[in-house]
Amino acid sequence: MLKTSKGIEGIRSPVWLMRQAGRVLPAYRKVRERVRDFKVMVKTPELATEVTIQPVDILAVDAAIIFSDILVIPEAMGLNYEMEENKGPVFPKRISSPSDLQNLHIAQAEELKYVHDAIRLTKKELNGRVPLIGFAGAPWTIFCYMIEGKGSKTFSQAKKILYTQPEFAHQLLDMITQSTINYLKGQIQAGVDIVQLFDSWAGVLSPGQYNTFLLPYISKICDAITEVPKIVFAKGAFFARESMNNLNCEVIGLDWHMGISESKRLMPGKVLQGNLDPCALYGSFDDIKRETKKMLDTFGPSRHIANLGHGLYPDIEVDKVRCFIDTVKEYSSKLHETSKV
Ligand code: CP3
Repeated sequence: MLKTSKGIEGIRSPVWLMRQAGRVLPAYRKVRERVRDFKVMVKTPELATEVTIQPVDILAVDAAIIFSDILVIPEAMGLNYEMEENKGPVFPKRISSPSDLQNLHIAQAEELKYVHDAIRLTKKELNGRVPLIGFAGAPWTIFCYMIEGKGSKTFSQAKKILYTQPEFAHQLLDMITQSTINYLKGQIQAGVDIVQLFDSWAGVLSPGQYNTFLLPYISKICDAITEVPKIVFAKGAFFARESMNNLNCEVIGLDWHMGISESKRLMPGKVLQGNLDPCALYGSFDDIKRETKKMLDTFGPSRHIANLGHGLYPDIEVDKVRCFIDTVKEYSSKLHETSKV
């Protein structure tokens, strides 16, 4: 995985899955039911380590991703969130006007020590078996949650600020960006081997807004993080692929809307990650094998990290997930061998 992310050829495409820590694994659900509180799990290094390693043991993925959430950043900045059962994140208070910024501060790495401790412990327990991925939400996606106070289909309140109070938007985006850099530097010091930026709501922006309110901030983070390879996953930003080729990062994550051949053409400088539709894993084993092989054929034998086009859904069967992973391992080894002949 690390070699591939740096563009070095290996023996096959590595494979991991977004949202592999949690959700589909009965072993995760058991810990979750016992502890009950999601945030307690995130803040207890022993528990975070346990569920981070589960998919490595159970699914044999090629990388672990630290169990945490993107919303630890707003919390460290002074905006508390709650994780409501079956509903998702909710912020009791949200940011609605420039005066609210007075209650926020730029998060320092020490304020997220619990994540860094979980990383140290996980690295120790992994003992070099697979690399550990660190992560953060990208500034625009974090901004969306801080303004809306919860999830949304349109993020219209967050977008409203871009149209009506652009200065205010830039101020908050800048604070999030600086906090994220401090946080990721802490993750790297604690031992993560690579980092992924999740820009889950990039796709609600117009290309112009993307250039003004998203790109400068994600670029700033990519420029600041020089110690490890970076993966940028901007879901829905199919229109920005050409500009993503110029980002200072090694890997670009594709969602399932982004055509593979077209993405290879638009981003020749990048290793690509993705991009099977998670819903494909609702199909039969034969369907999954066929769809996975088709994906691997189109990406080709090198410069590809196999993954889904977004996170696993909670009701996908573990055996179907395993089928995807095993197919990648088998078929991509074959593809790689035949490409050498
Ligand atoms: O990928 C992994 O396995 C690592 C852990 C991880 C979690 N959240 C744990 C989690 C990662 C990388 C995230 C990122 C995250 N969190 C994103 C970006 C990725 C994406 O899916 O677009 C976003 C938007 C969030 C915010 C968030 N956290 C939401 C909207 C929800 C509720 C709905 C959902 O996705 O489950 C969460 C909760 C959450 N974060 C869970 C897990 C395992 C489920 C909590 C539970 O156990 O009930």
